[in-house]
Amino acid sequence: MTTMESLIGLVNRIQRACTMLGDYGGADGALPTLWEALPSVAVVGGQSSGKSSVLESVVGRDFLPRGSGIVTRRPLVLQLHKTEAGQQEYAEFLHLPRRKFTDFALVRKEIQDDTDRLTGKTKQISPVPIHLSIYSPNVVNLTLIDLPGLTKVAVEGQPESIVQDIENMVRSYVEKPNSIILAISPANQDIATSDAIKLAREVDPTGERTFGVLTKLDLMDKGTNALDVLEGRSYRLQHPWVGIVNRSQADINKNVDMIVARKKEREYFATSPDYSHLASKMGSEYLAKLLSKHLEAVIRARIPSITSLINKSIDELESEMDHLGRPIAVDAGAQLYTILELCRAFERIFREHLDGGRPGGDR
Ligand code: GDP
Ligand code: NA
Ligand code: MG
Repeated sequence: MTTMESLIGLVNRIQRACTMLGDYGGADGALPTLWEALPSVAVVGGQSSGKSSVLESVVGRDFLPRGSGIVTRRPLVLQLHKTEAGQQEYAEFLHLPRRKFTDFALVRKEIQDDTDRLTGKTKQISPVPIHLSIYSPNVVNLTLIDLPGLTKVAVEGQPESIVQDIENMVRSYVEKPNSIILAISPANQDIATSDAIKLAREVDPTGERTFGVLTKLDLMDKGTNALDVLEGRSYRLQHPWVGIVNRSQADINKNVDMIVARKKEREYFATSPDYSHLASKMGSEYLAKLLSKHLEAVIRARIPSITSLINKSIDELESEMDHLGRPIAVDAGAQLYTILELCRAFERIFREHLDGGRPGGDR
């Protein structure tokens, strides 16, 4: 661990440690306040609005379970780590620490399998997140949380409460003042009916932590365009709206490569009579850079409050350790010990960043 590690990377590690201790959004674990203090980007939207597609475009890889209906049934904390050019891309799960995945089809399978492990092969949801890290030269440093899609009705095999359960889970992420909301709405539906905007408006009425993303621009009726939304006239946010063109279902069926899809998306905006004047601020690559820069800035601004919470956590952990005695083989004790060590290290490194230490990460 060096001061060159990105702030986003550091926060990633605390988030993983919190999850190992049973702390995550909505959970009532040992360090809920620490989890709450950590900034992250939560992806919110109705089912089939294009959430998974946006995440895959941002990563430049095809790796998420898909299908119609409720596919994402546990939060997926997706941590992107930028590596040197030419490095082999790989993925790693927190729950399988010694296994490097280079085949992204197996990543998709493991997400499905680990979801089923907790929920059974049902259409039920679970708030326990899956942590996935992707190491690649083609990503920016960024942490995104994919959440189940908001729905209006329960389907066969789901309890009536599912609609409210999903909304509560999503809300537990986006209501934290440190959460950045990536609100996904499809351009071929009226923005006034967007589930994402409805929730974002409730938890962030001034729009200062909401990034509006408009997908499916290519699916709008001929002769119409989304300029009223993209130029902020329909629903005003503090940050500019970003338009996206993901792969269509036909593209997915034909296995159109993600890198090819990104290129097609760039061409779409560059040559569009409606959007070419906005082309440099549209598309998934632009979105990824925008979010990475914003997340880094938010973390930097929060360093004082994060360090003071870490210090408080250190005190709490130390007294909890005193109760347990020296942790040797005791699982809980060993975990507490690990997170205590991590907290001490983070406290030191954050302080260096705060003291004008070298800015990390923007390689
Ligand atoms: P999610 O349920 O919100 O995760 O949505 P998905 O990303 O799974 O997308 C749902 C469907 O919409 C898939 O068939 C995608 O191919 C399609 N889709 C998503 N975004 C776009 C887009 O920008 N253009 C087109 N043509 N299809 C899209
Ligand atoms: Na879906
Ligand atoms: Mg999805």
